[in-house]
Amino acid sequence: MSVSSAAPASVSASAPTQAELLDFVRRAVADADLIASLPLDPEGRTWVRLEGPGGSEAWLIGWPPGTGTGWHDHADSVGAFMTASGELRENSLAVRLPTDGWTTLELTEGVDRERRLATGQGRAFGRHHVHEVLNESTDRHAISVHAYYPPLPRIRRYSRTAQTLRLEQVERPEDWQ
Ligand SMILES: [Fe+2]
Repeated sequence: MSVSSAAPASVSASAPTQAELLDFVRRAVADADLIASLPLDPEGRTWVRLEGPGGSEAWLIGWPPGTGTGWHDHADSVGAFMTASGELRENSLAVRLPTDGWTTLELTEGVDRERRLATGQGRAFGRHHVHEVLNESTDRHAISVHAYYPPLPRIRRYSRTAQTLRLEQVERPEDWQ
């Protein structure tokens, strides 16, 4: 993971809202120099850490064709993200799942949601949002901007088989060093 700092930052006295995070990623997406500063690697995703508003954690991410995150959530953090180049697909669950206290969940029918986020399109999400993000293009890189508050305390990763969601791993900040 490459880490550097460069960012449109704003100072907020209180915790940033989902709307403020979405506004931040929208302004970052509109900053052509910032977007162009991301190194792209055809072999894998690339990251640049940004300074988000109000102490939030923000990332500029490059997605080669065919890459994705796998199913995960961000525990108690809220967030927003927006496509800056190319197109991303988000698969998500319309239900808010408990963060703790389970390892396998059988999902009911009809809870799956799918969004296609073309360049300039994004979304905000609340706590416990479960999703995966993918660049399904066969030939085009995608770039996106993400912001989370509180700064990510945990990412819970899941495997998905049909309607079964299974907790596979809990990543904590110390795991990312
Ligand atoms: Fe995510």
